[in-house]
Amino acid sequence: MTTTSAAATLDLAAIQRLERDLQPPLYAKREIALVRGEGAYLFDSEGQRYLDAMSNYGVAILGHADPAYADALADQLRTLTTGHQSFYSDVRAALLEALAGIAPAGLSRFFLSNSGAEAIEAALKFARVATGRTKIVAAKRAYHGRTLGALAATADPKYRTPFAPLALEVTHVPFDDADALANAVDATTAAVILEPIQGEGGVYPASDAYLRAARDVATERGALLIADEVQTGFRTGAPFAIDHAGVAPDVLATAKGLANGFPIGLTMATEAVASALPAGTHGTTFGGNPLACRAALSTLAILRERDLYARSAALGAEIVARVEGLGSPKIRQVRGRGFMVGIELKERVTPTLRALQGRSVLALPAGPTTLRLLPPLVWEAAQVDEFVEALRAVLG
Ligand SMILES: Cc1ncc(COP(=O)(O)O)c(C=O)c1O
Repeated sequence: MTTTSAAATLDLAAIQRLERDLQPPLYAKREIALVRGEGAYLFDSEGQRYLDAMSNYGVAILGHADPAYADALADQLRTLTTGHQSFYSDVRAALLEALAGIAPAGLSRFFLSNSGAEAIEAALKFARVATGRTKIVAAKRAYHGRTLGALAATADPKYRTPFAPLALEVTHVPFDDADALANAVDATTAAVILEPIQGEGGVYPASDAYLRAARDVATERGALLIADEVQTGFRTGAPFAIDHAGVAPDVLATAKGLANGFPIGLTMATEAVASALPAGTHGTTFGGNPLACRAALSTLAILRERDLYARSAALGAEIVARVEGLGSPKIRQVRGRGFMVGIELKERVTPTLRALQGRSVLALPAGPTTLRLLPPLVWEAAQVDEFVEALRAVLG
C-alpha cells in the first residue's frame, strides 16, 4: 500500500481537523483538500474537479502529473536522490549547462538552493560581499520572501512588524518611479532589488524605461541590480521577465516554476559578483541535489519542446483582451504579461475568489482588490474559455 492510498482513507473532516489542530494557525485555509491533479485541473477529496488558474502560487508550471516529468523524477529517484555539492554530479552539471543557455546576458554563475526566499537571501548576501556595502533599496508593495533578510526587503507591514527589528537596512521607494529610485540610491547602497512584475503586491508590471533607469542608476552609484524573478520566471512568454526590457541585472533570483513544483531556488550572478565570494562562506545541504536538478532539467526541456513560452505569451494576451472585453463595471484594470495576470476590481477580491471556487475555478488574490491568475502553461484555448465564462458569471 502506498502512502497516497493510506492518506486517501482520511475524510475531509479528519484532514481539516488534523491540519487545524497540529499546525500553527498561520494560513487562512480555503476549506477544500486538494488530493490529485491532472494537466490543468485539480481534484479535491470529494472528487470535485477544479480549473487550476493558480499553479499553487505559480509553481506547477507544467500543470499536474505530467507523464514525461513524472517519468524523469521516477528515473532519478531510482538512480540517485541526494548528493551534496562538495561532490560533482552529472545531473547538476547538465542543469547548469541548460541554465547557461537561458540566462540573461552577463549572468554566468549559478547558485542552487531550495526556495525563493533562499534565492533572495543569497542575492542579498552576495551583494553585501561584492560591494562591501550593506544598504538595500527596494520598492513599496515589494514581496521578496519571509526569511529575515528577504523579509527586510519585503514591504508589507503585516509581514514585517511582528518580526522587527529586521536584519537589513532597506529603503522602500515608490515602484516604477525612476526619480524616486535615483534619489534613494547612493554611495552606501549595496543593491537595488526589484520584481520586474510585482506579484504579491498586485500584479504591477514595471515599465521597460524604469528597469533601464534602475540599471543605469545602480551602475552609476556602484550598486548592484538584483532582479527578483521568483514569481515572474518562466511564465511571461520568455524565461525571464527582464528579458523583455533588454536589461542585464548583476544578480537574478528565481524559484517557483523552475522545477515545476519540486522545491528549488536559483541565484544567478555575474562573474564579478561570483568571484567576490570567499570559498565556504555560503552553502546549503539540500541545494543542487540530483532530484531537484533533474526536476528543473526536465521542466526546462518540456517548456522548450512544447513551445510553452510562445503559447503562454499568446494565450495570456488573449486572457487580458477577453477579460477587458467583458466590460464589467466591477473591473478597474487588467494587467500582466503571459500567464501572470492581475484583474483589479473596484471592490475587495475575496467574494469573487470564493464565487469562482464555487464554480470550480481556483485563482489567487494579490493585495486586497486584485484577482491574480498564475495558470499552468499547459492551458489551451478551452481553459481560457472556461475561465472567462466563469468570471463572467461571477461578476454578473
Ligand atoms: C517575487 C517573490 N520573491 C520571493 C518569494 C519567496 O519565495 P518562497 O515562498 O519560495 O520562499 C516569492 C513568493 O511568493 C515571490 O513572489
